[in-house]
Amino acid sequence: MKRLPIAIPILASLASFILVLLALLAGSKPGHMEDYDILTFNTSALGKNLLSNMLDDDDEPTPTQPAEDDSICDDLPSFLGKPCGSVTSAAASLQSEIIDKIDDINNEIADRLADRLGIHEFYSLHVLTICDGEFEPNATAPEAGKNVTSCKNGLDGGYNISSTLDKELTAGPFHITLRDLGMSDKLQGVIDDLNTVTKAIAILFIVTTALVGLSLLTSLLAIFLIPGRRENAARITNLVISTLAALLLLVTSILVTVATSKAVEKVNDMGEDIGLSARRGTKYLAITWAATGVFLLFAFGFWAVQTWRWRKGGAKRGFPKGGKSWYGGEKGVRGSEETGGTGRRRY
Ligand SMILES: *[C@@H]1O[C@H](CO)[C@@H](O)[C@H](O)[C@H]1NC(C)=O
Ligand SMILES: *[C@@H]1O[C@H](CO)[C@@H](O)[C@H](O)[C@H]1NC(C)=O
Ligand SMILES: *[C@@H]1O[C@H](CO)[C@@H](O)[C@H](O)[C@H]1NC(C)=O
Ligand SMILES: *[C@@H]1O[C@H](CO)[C@@H](O)[C@H](O)[C@H]1NC(C)=O
Repeated sequence: MKRLPIAIPILASLASFILVLLALLAGSKPGHMEDYDILTFNTSALGKNLLSNMLDDDDEPTPTQPAEDDSICDDLPSFLGKPCGSVTSAAASLQSEIIDKIDDINNEIADRLADRLGIHEFYSLHVLTICDGEFEPNATAPEAGKNVTSCKNGLDGGYNISSTLDKELTAGPFHITLRDLGMSDKLQGVIDDLNTVTKAIAILFIVTTALVGLSLLTSLLAIFLIPGRRENAARITNLVISTLAALLLLVTSILVTVATSKAVEKVNDMGEDIGLSARRGTKYLAITWAATGVFLLFAFGFWAVQTWRWRKGGAKRGFPKGGKSWYGGEKGVRGSEETGGTGRRRY
């Protein structure tokens, strides 16, 4: 029981380490902790503007509209100028399927558009990967679940959802690009910034996980180094490493929180007219902040308080306030470790 206090930073570091490791490995394979995404792009309605535009133009939609009809191309907004033929055929072909449900256009098309365009309904960003798949039972169902199809490494360019979508759209039945669907430079800029931030978050997360793991090791080592002549070295090492780990945890958590909130807000704002939306993962934020909170309070806090008490007590009495040695063992007279001496300690 006497060594109980040292259990505090050990357990806190262990809990924090497990949490950051889970956050780091979420999405490492399809379906693994899919709910712990940083944010998810909902692409189920991407391209809905094409249909709205067309339906606004013809009160009587005609399912057999010729794909290359010049008059349709003339009516379409200018950004559709060049690939009008294929875009129009995409829209016309979709339109024929939803002809009975024009009033409910946004809900009805959401479930079919992605499939018709050859893309997935969602793309979820995780720390190290980006996963894609379909909503189930369907995209418009309340509380729709996710059925993940595949995940790919994000660090080698995979975070760029635009290039992923472009590849899939080009390979799809209508051979179009995001730009044809009305992707603006501004929105592309937001996505590019998000790529950069996500890379930074990934690297910070890897370093943070390593530091929290190291902090766990050094607090475990402290059991063996104390009571003993290396008590001071153990204390200082733990203080330094736990300070670094705490700082990185804090920076990472703040970065994740602020950056994703800004990105989601902008994507939803600028993406609305082309049918792109995004949603932030709350569980991911929760475990990141839980790891940070537990570590700050009970690991960094422990070593900070011990160091403070030791300095304060050491100056007056040779052992910390309260008459107990900081590690919870027997009273110890503060030795002359600063000068390399050994002899004056009692254990
Ligand atoms: C995806 O977006 C569509 C269109 O904006 C929306 O109707 C649907 O509820 C969203 N689905 C999910 C699961 O967020
Ligand atoms: C989507 O799923 C919900 C719940 O299962 C269902 O009520 C709704 O009709 C479905 N929507 C479409 C467009 O299939
Ligand atoms: C998920 O998708 C796969 C392939 O599309 C399908 O076979 C499977 O039944 C789906 N799972 C659920 C739970 O809907
Ligand atoms: C992401 O992909 C888009 C489309 O392929 C491209 O225009 C953009 O430059 C890429 N951004 C980055 C940061 O690579």
